[in-house]
Amino acid sequence: MATESPATRRVQVAEHPRLLKLKEMFNSKFGSIPKFYVRAPGRVNLIGEHIDYCGYSVLPMAVEQDLLIAVEPVETYTLQLANTNPLYPDFSTSATNIQIDKTKPLWHNYFLCGLKGIQEHFGLSNLTGMNCLVDGNIPPRSGLSSSSALVCCAGLVTLTVLGMNLTKVELAEICAKSERYIGTEGGGMDQSISFLAEEGTAKLIEFSPLRATNVNLPSGAVFVIANSCVEMNKAATSHFNIRVMECRLAAKLLAKYKSLQWDKVLQLEEVQAKLGISLEEMLLVTEDALHPEPYSPEEICRCLGITLEELRTQILSPNTYDVLIFKLYQRAKHVYSEAARVLQFKKICEEAPENTVQLLGELMNQSHMSCRDMYECSCPELDQLVDICRKFGAEGSRLTGAGWGGCTVSIVPADKLTSFLANVHKAYYQRSDGSLAPEKQSLFATKPGGGALVFLEA
Ligand code: GLA
Repeated sequence: MATESPATRRVQVAEHPRLLKLKEMFNSKFGSIPKFYVRAPGRVNLIGEHIDYCGYSVLPMAVEQDLLIAVEPVETYTLQLANTNPLYPDFSTSATNIQIDKTKPLWHNYFLCGLKGIQEHFGLSNLTGMNCLVDGNIPPRSGLSSSSALVCCAGLVTLTVLGMNLTKVELAEICAKSERYIGTEGGGMDQSISFLAEEGTAKLIEFSPLRATNVNLPSGAVFVIANSCVEMNKAATSHFNIRVMECRLAAKLLAKYKSLQWDKVLQLEEVQAKLGISLEEMLLVTEDALHPEPYSPEEICRCLGITLEELRTQILSPNTYDVLIFKLYQRAKHVYSEAARVLQFKKICEEAPENTVQLLGELMNQSHMSCRDMYECSCPELDQLVDICRKFGAEGSRLTGAGWGGCTVSIVPADKLTSFLANVHKAYYQRSDGSLAPEKQSLFATKPGGGALVFLEA
């Protein structure tokens, strides 16, 4: 698996309505026929939130919703991008001078991240141009990774245009790194599952080195995604990067407390690995070493023996320079406990005891509580939605993805699915005040889908 490249599949475009629509729209937009198509899926994270960038394993699966791009390489050095959704305006640029504007996370910038990642990997200064038409059905800004799917899709498009080869693991690593051009310090979960997903199985994704292991989900339950309809654009706010920095600072303070070489430490996992102790023991170390009261930048500087200038320029990201309080204790407690829940979740799936669904549900509920109270990445609507899901039959329910809006994922016994969907719909979406935009409402059962691939017309 580690050495596999994304598959190329020959298809009769006429038999695939979405590809056919894309081919026709491409023709009317660019006056030609696409040479190939690429797809990359979105994902739902079942458990393991905000711990990938701390070095810990996560447990997502790909959803069937995806991004499709129809592509035609052209001789001019111009990249032309269009989207079937009129909300996303056309964009064109010289393929030899890719600029990614961090100040405005516009849709085409995610495409440019994937393209630039591949270009840099091969050390190419010139790229041939291409015409691309994008079509997506992953609800945007809903925690299902529509933006990473675009980065991954663009990476695979560029690789295919160049006629080069990379493994899925290499592609995932390149795209995880290049998505940071947008300014968010994400981990590698979204890009890894978009490439490494396989139909019918969730994956445990481990980092350094990146690898994915099948996790078979219980047959008696269904995972249901529900959109809270609160939009979260993690590139447009600093919430996300603040959490990444809080975890980084917590790791440094814990390392210093344990007399490790703290200046090289970036991730909470490194502290555990260097101490060679369990996650449960790391929770105890956290309680001894850190205090629940928020830390000021001055206190952090005192603890580490550095200046404010050094804190800003050597540790913090640009959009967190001016943060005045850092909650280190709460963030570290969330990360170490969530990392342990991921391992328990996998073990329960493997051992499959009689009460599997109930046990997995409990872990998902604990995960939500920790995200809400310790990591503070929930919001009132998500909390209300998980309560509604539990009330109508979910054994467990939690926010999924970065949080602060977006979707929940619930584990629902298969025999309760029909009534669950009807009741949740009524209780959350059919509000008397009509405040939720109908186009954002989505509530659906999902199954593990496959990863990114290339289609050629047969
Ligand atoms: C975003 C990031 C991921 C991960 C999740 C939270 O989706 O891109 O790397 O950190 O948030 O679990």
